[in-house]
Amino acid sequence: MTMPAFVKPRQVIGHHLVLRDATPADAEFIVALRTDESKSRFISKTSSDVSQQVAWLEKYAQDNSQVYFIMEDREHNPVGTVRLYDQQGDSFCWGSWVIREGSPSGYAVESALMVYQFALSLGFTRAHFDVRKGNESVWKFHERFGAVRTEETELDYFYSLSREAIDKSLAKYAKFLPGGIQVIAA
Ligand SMILES: CC(C)(COP(=O)(O)OP(=O)(O)OC[C@H]1O[C@@H](n2cnc3c(N)ncnc32)[C@H](O)[C@@H]1OP(=O)(O)O)[C@@H](O)C(=O)NCCC(=O)NCCS
Repeated sequence: MTMPAFVKPRQVIGHHLVLRDATPADAEFIVALRTDESKSRFISKTSSDVSQQVAWLEKYAQDNSQVYFIMEDREHNPVGTVRLYDQQGDSFCWGSWVIREGSPSGYAVESALMVYQFALSLGFTRAHFDVRKGNESVWKFHERFGAVRTEETELDYFYSLSREAIDKSLAKYAKFLPGGIQVIAA
């Protein structure tokens, strides 16, 4: 069996959302999103210096160990971000998950389903991630998807999600992503 590996596609097309590979031109959007006070409480600190974000994205373009997506609506308006990283065998980690304030409520579930379907298409079979203990709505979200708490520190809960849980959630929430995903290669 071959090991899964991250591959950056040009786009992953879902139902209401499209995930596309982030580029340095997205720096301003990302800084605005991540420094929004209502969004930044439980994510790692982001400098408001756009040039630092440009430098990060330039480095990212050469880095095949992660996939950083800009989430767009069907009119190509950027609405959020999500990232797959930290491969551990057949398990992937995802995070940097931020959706712009005021977005339709279905975007959270749809984007999570798109991440799982995309990761399965790359050959991953499991997921892991950590969530701040204080970020209760987000860890509850993951627990509804079948995430199991594996560890905790003073600040964070650590979770893993099995292939069975991924498949179950894809079926349970199928109405959020009725046509599945279409992956467009770079
Ligand atoms: C993380 C983030 C993208 C999640 O998006 P969100 O919109 O807050 O997600 P919610 O859990 O509120 O879910 C959105 C809607 O889907 C519904 N929903 C969530 N899970 C659902 C499920 N399993 N089945 C059906 N509906 C569900 C919710 O009830 C909610 O509906 P409402 O808007 O009518 O209340 C967003 O909170 C965010 O940008 N947070 C800041 C950054 C952050 O902390 N990121 C996570 C770091 S680990």
